[in-house]
Amino acid sequence: MAEQKSIHGLWRSRWLFILAATGSAVGLGNIWKFPYITGENGGGAFVLVYLACICVIGIPVMIAEVTLGRLGRQSPINTMHALVKDQNAAKFWGGIGWMGAVSGFLILSFYSVIAGWSLAYIFRMAGGAFDGATAQSVGTIFGDLLGNPEALLGWHTIFMVLTIGIVARGVNKGLERSISILMPLLFLILVVLLGYSMSTEGFGAAFNFLFSFDFSKITAESIVVALGHAFFTLSLGMGAIMAYGAYMPKSASVGKTVLTVAFLDTLIALVAGLVIFPIVFSNGLEAGAGPGLLFQTLPLAFSQMPAGTVFGTLFFLLVAFAALSSAISLGEPVVAWAVESKGMSRVAAATWIGIVIWLLGVGTILSFNLWADFKIFGRTIFDNLDFLTANILLPLGGLLIAIFVGWVMHKQDVADEVKMESPFMYNVWRFLVKFVAPVAVAIVLINGLI
Ligand code: PHE
Repeated sequence: MAEQKSIHGLWRSRWLFILAATGSAVGLGNIWKFPYITGENGGGAFVLVYLACICVIGIPVMIAEVTLGRLGRQSPINTMHALVKDQNAAKFWGGIGWMGAVSGFLILSFYSVIAGWSLAYIFRMAGGAFDGATAQSVGTIFGDLLGNPEALLGWHTIFMVLTIGIVARGVNKGLERSISILMPLLFLILVVLLGYSMSTEGFGAAFNFLFSFDFSKITAESIVVALGHAFFTLSLGMGAIMAYGAYMPKSASVGKTVLTVAFLDTLIALVAGLVIFPIVFSNGLEAGAGPGLLFQTLPLAFSQMPAGTVFGTLFFLLVAFAALSSAISLGEPVVAWAVESKGMSRVAAATWIGIVIWLLGVGTILSFNLWADFKIFGRTIFDNLDFLTANILLPLGGLLIAIFVGWVMHKQDVADEVKMESPFMYNVWRFLVKFVAPVAVAIVLINGLI
């Protein structure tokens, strides 16, 4: 395909792409979701399946998705349109862009609600709500927050306004710079917390829990969850990484860049696990406590630490920031599309799209309180949104991307764009995208869902 230009601008360097993509990848998925689904799915064996999914499916699909974006240089919907034309492919493949847009709406609608919890916790921490906390009082504070729909709505609203504000300004201004300071800071605090966790008596038990592989605990559903999480945590399968790839300079190597992002993302998830589970085991908490795990363990740790109030406040601030840098990548694909195809200004597009997503978020809010008993397929609204997006739509999107790049596109066009230095690595990648990723995802989806 002839060289395309992005109307939204480009990242100023390969590093800024890495930063932005890492900002997208590292978020609630790493710090909030990974620990709690690991707890729910029995630990070690689940972690191993998740790591395998990252290596043989996530990384190859991420390379494919970035490549599509950089070839098309537009929003995922239009990039897929353009590629379908250019490659003489069936119209069907354009659906990858549209499906991604739907996933983005649904994910951001609940993501913002959870990010709102971390906003609430910044103030609870700073106000000393957790001074002298016990396992019980921490549980009560969390329960009170979830039981209060007005409060949840308030925090959700604030988070959506922040997200829209940044997307409206364009990704170049503001975000690039702040991520480069805040992400390392978040990592630093996690390492400080890791130091604390290692000093607790539960560390050995936690380490065993995370890294000893008891395969009897693996079920078809937990494999679906591990695979889904690999997509979720790497921001794959819905166009976020395709949109970011569209702004990536031509000179950067896709393979190396993607490896860096995936490494950082995985590292942060594992460190988060090593921080949270020692606290769980030292305090007799429940590893399978579900979505509240992060919010019920860390305040306990902070309350027992010197200067815990300061660290705790800073920690939840950084979690909120990590969530924000992911949230903007959920909004960017659709906003970019509205700017390109509907002739809207960025501000108008971000506002309208933001309002729709904000409204959808109300369903998630109510599923924690007033509608907690309203269940479809035995799941609350939040659980359904989470399951549908992470465990079905993202893997399906990734599957289609892998097939499109591996089988539908002209071989030479792909090779020219991916351009790996080592022919061996290129062949490994090609084999993974063509065969391993599609087959593995298809098997897991079919098995897990039936
Ligand atoms: N990767 C983000 C996280 O782990 C979530 C996300 C999913 C962002 C899909 C963009 C697209 O928190």
